[in-house]
Amino acid sequence: MTTGWDNFQELVREQMRKVYAEPFIEHSLDPKNVGDMEEADSYVSVLGSCGDRMELYLKVQDDRIIDATFYTDGCSATIACGSMLTELAKNRTLGEALVISAKVLIEKLGGLPEDHVHCAGLASLTLKRAVMEYINLRKEPWEKVYRDRDMRQNPIIVDETKEIS
Ligand code: FES
Repeated sequence: MTTGWDNFQELVREQMRKVYAEPFIEHSLDPKNVGDMEEADSYVSVLGSCGDRMELYLKVQDDRIIDATFYTDGCSATIACGSMLTELAKNRTLGEALVISAKVLIEKLGGLPEDHVHCAGLASLTLKRAVMEYINLRKEPWEKVYRDRDMRQNPIIVDETKEIS
């Protein structure tokens, strides 16, 4: 049985189809892997030049990402990018994850409007930083609790626009 809510959702999707491709709509309206992760092996909080933040949690086993979750206070493009990013990162080796670029995210989402291309840059930079964080902490695992605490207060500041040029 179709409800009023279903009709409303369909109306929203219809409007979005005028601007966005289907994968983008799916990942922005029903994002995957949103939220914190307990006992993550890597956590980073990254602040883009637009003032939006993306947080990423990774669970790693034998140099392979076995789980990934994210949170962002950014725009719907950032939500779609975070959702796609975490889906793509899962089951990849750390090396494979490093090549998930902004370009790859944009392609997988079926394109982004010009003024939101940088949101894909923020997402891919966040993944790179999370992989680097994991690698660095392997040398000094005891530092993790301090790093996580500090990261929440002082996110890594990046210029995500450079990631897409
Ligand atoms: Fe800031 Fe999308 S507008 S990340």
